[in-house]
Amino acid sequence: MDKWTVHIEVRLNARASARFETIRNHVHSYVTSVDRLAIPSTLDGWDDIPELASSVDRISVCESQCTAPSLTIEEMSLQIHVYKPSDSDAFEEFSNSAGNRNEDDDTMAASVCELPNKNYEGLWDSLIYADDVKMKLLDYIHATLIFSDANVDLNLVSWNRVVLLHGPPGTGKTSLCRALAQKLSIRLSHRYSHTRLLEINSHSLFSKWFSESGKLVQRLFSSITELVEEEDGFVVVLIDEVESLTAARAGAMAGTEPSDGLRVVNALLTQLDKLKQRKNVLVMATSNLVKAIDTAFLDRADIVQYVDLPSREAIYEILRSALCEIILKGIVAYVTVPALKQVQLYELMNKSAEKSDSIDPQDRSKNVSLRLLALATQCRTQGMSGRALRRLPVLALARYIGIGNFFRPQISGVLPKESKGTPVEVWLDGMEKAVGEHVRESERLN
Ligand SMILES: Nc1ncnc2c1ncn2[C@@H]1O[C@H](COP(=O)(O)OP(=O)(O)OP(=O)(O)O)[C@@H](O)[C@H]1O
Ligand SMILES: [Mg+2]
Repeated sequence: MDKWTVHIEVRLNARASARFETIRNHVHSYVTSVDRLAIPSTLDGWDDIPELASSVDRISVCESQCTAPSLTIEEMSLQIHVYKPSDSDAFEEFSNSAGNRNEDDDTMAASVCELPNKNYEGLWDSLIYADDVKMKLLDYIHATLIFSDANVDLNLVSWNRVVLLHGPPGTGKTSLCRALAQKLSIRLSHRYSHTRLLEINSHSLFSKWFSESGKLVQRLFSSITELVEEEDGFVVVLIDEVESLTAARAGAMAGTEPSDGLRVVNALLTQLDKLKQRKNVLVMATSNLVKAIDTAFLDRADIVQYVDLPSREAIYEILRSALCEIILKGIVAYVTVPALKQVQLYELMNKSAEKSDSIDPQDRSKNVSLRLLALATQCRTQGMSGRALRRLPVLALARYIGIGNFFRPQISGVLPKESKGTPVEVWLDGMEKAVGEHVRESERLN
């Protein structure tokens, strides 16, 4: 019988001092003692194993290619990844100035951060897409690793280690790049002792020092090459809003831009071609103006992935996750908000609860979920982005619920179920009004 590969990620707490190998063995024994694992899920019940209780924060069973909701231990081939997120913030590096000019432009060309990083914990799971964009990206990485490991002759089969995500503003492109980098740092930890994310500030690189920009790109990439030379480290390079770097050539060709635009693009393309020889690097680029991107750059991207505005179903899950977070933090009174599958069932059965003010908890949950789904439908009609959706709770509070009417939780962190908080219906009213306002404002803009 073929087995499904299932990745298990074990996050250690800041105090953990045990060896990763020891933890991995304990987790392996624990997991194999359970009959069945739900996929994806967060495991519990391991805190009575002292070695795990003292060091581990969370054990999660990650998404797998298998579409079944659960698998038995015999059906799985386990890959256990133990990691300890770094809590250091990104540090700026690679100043644009060469240091010998007394210019006022001290913007930085790039920043670097160590991965896995605390700041990006939970980011991957928070991004919700209708089609399987996230799995596609992970599969691409696995495919390139298989070819690299087999030492495939790059003259015969080659790839460029460049991925481009494009789509409307606020669809999570930049976040997805960071989340993927974090994911890779966890998944590749058995191959690479450390991973770094280097974010290029495209705007600053294509600076007002027009004639310098080609040189700046070269200087930046020679620093990147230095990083990549450490063969036991993996480097993810993020070129955010890449069109500002590469649109230049089109302008130059049309004779409207100084030829510096050409130099920048050429420098970038040459440097990318050099990087592709390295196994331990991945370049991710984002854009919301794909038409403005140089075709030679586009051609180098192994994957050009359109990231769309969220579907009604994705919107439901995004709103639900936002609501669950403020319930967890005690801002909204405790209530269960059913997951998408459940509300779809309710919708199919066309079964709103008997009385809308029913106090039966199950009826109430059903009503809440159906209202949230109706709100999701409205947001979809408006073509709202993930960014616009995630701020709805804040707008609801600021503009409709009113700070004065709001019950302020006394304690931070997880509150007991019976804790107070504003009733969820008040929040739904507020969020519906906030969407209404979004509609009116969008009409004014058009
Ligand atoms: N599909 C999604 N699921 C969940 N959250 C999302 C989604 N899309 C966007 N968001 C949220 O919206 C916010 C903005 O995302 P991000 O900055 O990554 O978007 P972007 O596509 O890079 O936008 P821009 O094109 O304007 O740079 C993030 O907080 C992210 O969590
Ligand atoms: Mg972005």
